[in-house]
Amino acid sequence: MKSVRSLSRRLFGSLALSTTLGLTTALGLIGASAAQDTIKIGLIVPMTGPSASTGRQQEAAAKLFIQQNGTTVAGKKIELIVKDDTGAPDTTKRLAQELIVNDKASVLLGFGLTPLALAVAPLSTQAKVPQIVTAAATAMITEQSPFIFRTSFTLPQASVPMAEWGLKNGIKKVVTLVSDYGPGLDAEKWFSDTITKGGGTVVENLRVPLRNPDFAPFLQRVKDASPDAVFVFVPSGFGATFMKQFSERGLDKSGIKLIATGDVTDDDLLQEIGDVSLGVVNTHHYSASHNSPENKAFVEAFKKANNGMRPNFMAVGAYDGMALVYKALEKTKGNADGETLVAAMKGMSWTSVRGPVSIDPETRDIIQNIYVRKVEKVNGELYNQEFATIEAVKDPFKAAKK
Ligand code: PHB
Repeated sequence: MKSVRSLSRRLFGSLALSTTLGLTTALGLIGASAAQDTIKIGLIVPMTGPSASTGRQQEAAAKLFIQQNGTTVAGKKIELIVKDDTGAPDTTKRLAQELIVNDKASVLLGFGLTPLALAVAPLSTQAKVPQIVTAAATAMITEQSPFIFRTSFTLPQASVPMAEWGLKNGIKKVVTLVSDYGPGLDAEKWFSDTITKGGGTVVENLRVPLRNPDFAPFLQRVKDASPDAVFVFVPSGFGATFMKQFSERGLDKSGIKLIATGDVTDDDLLQEIGDVSLGVVNTHHYSASHNSPENKAFVEAFKKANNGMRPNFMAVGAYDGMALVYKALEKTKGNADGETLVAAMKGMSWTSVRGPVSIDPETRDIIQNIYVRKVEKVNGELYNQEFATIEAVKDPFKAAKK
């Protein structure tokens, strides 16, 4: 049902355009516009601030997807509307509201940080508009609305395999160092619990403020504790600052092994981080060097369309978010009603550039491979080279509740 507000806005808009045509014609125009066959997709991401790379990557990927797959699905025209929330939750919420009420967006995508995704959850429930989280990764996000889906990953999904690899590779005594908010706390908990259960010891859990982080005092504490390894999570965009301070403090030469989630050795930053990252073992769901024909084609097209920019896991989150919307619309034959789309998205599976993926019909989270990788130089460029695969990993946080 169109709201009265929307109809009056359309009416006045149409009248302004057609004063000479008379009221009847204007009403006719409303009818035409109400039945218009355009489906609007709102992408809300940070395009400025420390998470700007997330916005840049996600916008580029969503546009590439449309370029490759066309602007029409099941007879409906697709329009992508991109908004910059600057990483501020109040702005994310306002933009989501405007997209739903003014633009009549059928689906919202994006959400570069956990607080930004959480700010919109009540709106997606009230408006019955699917909210596809293509970036943020705290496990509990999908529980905040039955309209939330996720095509990124969860921190427990990446952190448990890192701990399991550590246990198999002689890492017994560890310190964890994470950004002090949702995903960092998830990484800390799931990594620490897994290590402890496997007979290892966590000697310190260090939490660094998310905004303007100074890692130096925390790195000193890592050094003093002299563990076998330090396990690190910082969100996409922050890895270069962390790695710079890591080497400045001489941690790279201390004999303490650095292990991490792939957010730290983000493909978008890896060249900037430089050789200090060589040999860092980390776990994640996507590497630009993932060896599949789908990924090779994706990386090539992405670079070509974006002045040589290398896609990172954020790009793939948005690319698959768009794939989920297109596949759902094909299934509903172009019906963009929120509840109809939600039903269509549950259980959807496809071959992503990251490998096989599916949407868990119970949790609306993504089920995907997690890869163990090591940073290596390939033809002079740094890459996260995958060397082991844990297949079809479900979010452990939700699996543990059963
Ligand atoms: C988050 O805020 O949920 C988040 C952001 C960036 C990441 C991972 C998690 O790389």
